[in-house]
Amino acid sequence: MADQVRVAVIGAGSISEAHLEAYRNNSLADLVAVSDVNGARARAAADKYGAPKSYADYRELLADPDVDAVSICTWNNTHAEIAIAALNAGKHVLVEKPLCLTVEEALAVQQAVRSSGRLLQVGFVRRYDPNAQLLRRFAELGEFGDIYYAKASILRRLGNPGGWFADAKRSGGGPLIDIGVHVIDLCWYLMGKPKVVSVSGNAYRELGNRQNVKGLSFYKAADYDPSLNTVEDLANALIRFENGASLYVDVSFTLHLEKDESSAKLFGTKGGFEVIPELKIITEKHDTILNVTPQVDHAGFDFRAAFQGEIDHFVDCVREGREPISPVEDGVEIMKILCGVYESARLGREIRFDAGEEQA
Ligand SMILES: NC(=O)c1ccc[n+]([C@@H]2O[C@H](COP(=O)([O-])OP(=O)(O)OC[C@H]3O[C@@H](n4cnc5c(N)ncnc54)[C@H](O)[C@@H]3O)[C@@H](O)[C@H]2O)c1
Repeated sequence: MADQVRVAVIGAGSISEAHLEAYRNNSLADLVAVSDVNGARARAAADKYGAPKSYADYRELLADPDVDAVSICTWNNTHAEIAIAALNAGKHVLVEKPLCLTVEEALAVQQAVRSSGRLLQVGFVRRYDPNAQLLRRFAELGEFGDIYYAKASILRRLGNPGGWFADAKRSGGGPLIDIGVHVIDLCWYLMGKPKVVSVSGNAYRELGNRQNVKGLSFYKAADYDPSLNTVEDLANALIRFENGASLYVDVSFTLHLEKDESSAKLFGTKGGFEVIPELKIITEKHDTILNVTPQVDHAGFDFRAAFQGEIDHFVDCVREGREPISPVEDGVEIMKILCGVYESARLGREIRFDAGEEQA
């Protein structure tokens, strides 16, 4: 494809701004349409970012021959349906995390990718942060030896975004599927994507959304509504991999915690590193432990650069017919882990996977 990629964004809520902004900055992308069930919201975003068309019904957008590729930025429960419809309509797809709600849906999306011959990129935006790419390169070059343990947390003391995020029917769950997905995927990617063999998890609903708390602001859904909350406050999980490596993660929307905490640390036989909150490498030389600070513009997560990297990569992959670095297969694996953790928490026991399938 020599010319610009003609793109559209479906879902014009909070995160769509990051997609729209990044498409605007990419000279190889031409934004042609925006869609949202809230037609006025779609029109406002189209006007703001210079898209000539807006649609309230995404199916009309998918029937538009002027659209080559779409970003899906809607509620989680609509991702699979819209992605499959888009692929079958001949569009390339960038779908926000999580890929969908269930493993069955994930496999159906994968099937649609294969039968349509179109590409699908999962919006695992943390992978596209320059520091994640730096560490992945170091890891591939053997800098850390074999990575055998990873530990990640995203603990919010007050941060249930409300609205659809807090409605399990539309979100699929709480902090595990919303923010846990980011760090589970990031660690798994930096570990070299080992095959998962089992998960053991816990999910708690002890505090609710703490809507009574005053004086602190936090990320909210476009249609914020604290009256419904059917998701967990806190989840933790131990994930085991075929190569013997393990990942421990804990995530919360609400917790009696002094302050929010985010971290992702990985440990290998030759060295370790931190990617959250800031880039750091730990190694040993001449019988001495060295804490190394790589010199980069942003030591922490660079939101704008990561979204720009994600969008630029999507546009390049569409133009060049390349497979993205976060393909549908990775979305399927992450759905297996997330759904396995919820299943483990529900049953109160470990869930084992054999040849990629869950054992009853
Ligand atoms: N990558 C990240 O860092 C990140 C951050 C926040 C959200 N997200 C993901 O982005 C997605 C959207 O989250 P958000 O925070 O923007 O939510 P939001 O509630 O602010 O916006 C969602 C929008 O989708 C619209 N919508 C819902 N169903 C639709 C449909 N069938 N057709 C068209 N429009 C529809 C809603 O009207 C709303 O405007 C979610 O999947 C979420 O997990 C990713």
